[in-house]
Amino acid sequence: MRTIIEPFRIKTVEPIYFNTKEQRARILENAFYNPFLIHSQDVLIDLLTDSGTSAMSSNQWAGIMKGDESYAGSPSFFHFSNTIQEITGMPFIIPTHQGRAAERILFEIMGGKGKYFVSNTLFDTTRANIEFSGAEGVDLICEEGRHPGIPADFKGNMDTAALEKFIIDKGAHTIPLVIITVTNNSGGGQPVSMQNIKEVRKICTQHQIPLFIDACRFAENAWFIKLREEGYAHKPIPEIVHELFSYADGCTMSAKKDAFANIGGFLAMHSEALALQCRNLLIITEGFPTYGGLAGRDLEAIAIGLKEVMEENYLQYRIRSIEYLTEKLVAAGVPVMRPGGGHAVYLDAKEFLPHIPVDQYPGQALACALYEEGGIRSVEIGSLMFGKYDSQEKLIPATLELVRLAIPRRVYTQSHIDYVAEVVIDVFKNRNLMQGLAIIEEAPALRHFTVKLKPIN
Ligand code: F0G
Repeated sequence: MRTIIEPFRIKTVEPIYFNTKEQRARILENAFYNPFLIHSQDVLIDLLTDSGTSAMSSNQWAGIMKGDESYAGSPSFFHFSNTIQEITGMPFIIPTHQGRAAERILFEIMGGKGKYFVSNTLFDTTRANIEFSGAEGVDLICEEGRHPGIPADFKGNMDTAALEKFIIDKGAHTIPLVIITVTNNSGGGQPVSMQNIKEVRKICTQHQIPLFIDACRFAENAWFIKLREEGYAHKPIPEIVHELFSYADGCTMSAKKDAFANIGGFLAMHSEALALQCRNLLIITEGFPTYGGLAGRDLEAIAIGLKEVMEENYLQYRIRSIEYLTEKLVAAGVPVMRPGGGHAVYLDAKEFLPHIPVDQYPGQALACALYEEGGIRSVEIGSLMFGKYDSQEKLIPATLELVRLAIPRRVYTQSHIDYVAEVVIDVFKNRNLMQGLAIIEEAPALRHFTVKLKPIN
């Protein structure tokens, strides 16, 4: 088999500014050991997120010029909504400025005290919007999803037995929605199988609970279904995607992921009554229903990106590049989530740094070390992001301590990825010298974005 090449040529480039390890040590100290507080020009390879960081295609840029900025009834909106209707089969499409704006609207309507939103794993903003409404978010990930080092095909699956038990324990009336996140971002970018979605649908139908998809990475998930699930090898991606959405009553989507857009999102659904409520809220905070907080040009870029992301040459290259980095790290003995995810490689910080206890945030310590060593910016997805405190102010840790190396779409080449592997392996060789971190300042919700830390000596 020949090398799977990047299925694009480069037309515009952005410079990377180089700095030294000594400079980075100072930058890190000034940023209170929080990579979110580092200026992006001080970063060599930015793997903080795959969200909003994609390189747009020449077609998308052409769409930007075509964008119609009319306040109401813009043709760009109809391009956007027709495309999403075609992909999802859902009739009611509501644009929002990004994914969490869609979540905020949905949970403000459906949430509230005493309610549970049950998921394979909720992303942090989704959970935060649920909790902000007074409701509770519940993650019921399958057993395979709990073991980073043990490979399995669909580690993003929901534990359907646990779902049934939860519904019986709490009563279906307390559960306004079941949400399946594809791919499962917080659980390693792992895919959910069509079989699992079908089973969850069946349970939801039995108990009359609507099913929504958090569809940020729907195309990556569809590619895994094509590769790994029986009966899908010869199906075109749009068909797989269509089937996936056919089991859902609605979806939220951040177009900053699998739409190659730098901003944007939407809600899509079958229920006209719910759509009406969502639009009423939308008008108060996002904008008129035919732009929803976006410019007409953004709507065009999203409509075009949603089609491009389903191209098989792209998906093959995309998933292969994650697998390529995973293989290099595994070969060097670095503990990573296996198999590789759809949009990111996840380092297992608990295994990487067994000498740092979870309340000293090994994932954050590792993210800082990657920056200092090679200027790579990553993000902790562990107890800093998801940790809670008990009544004695003691940390209730997250299930997993991961560091995510999220790969922006169509941005970095193979030599960038080779460099990333070299830096991670160098940090791994010197892991015994690394220390934990202590929090000196934190916000009550989504603390990882603004938290300040210091090394523990
Ligand atoms: N759902 C999932 C699964 C996500 O990964 C994200 C964002 C959102 C919802 C919210 O979308 O950012 O447009 O408001 N994830 C980004 C990340 C931030 O880095 O994984 P948003």
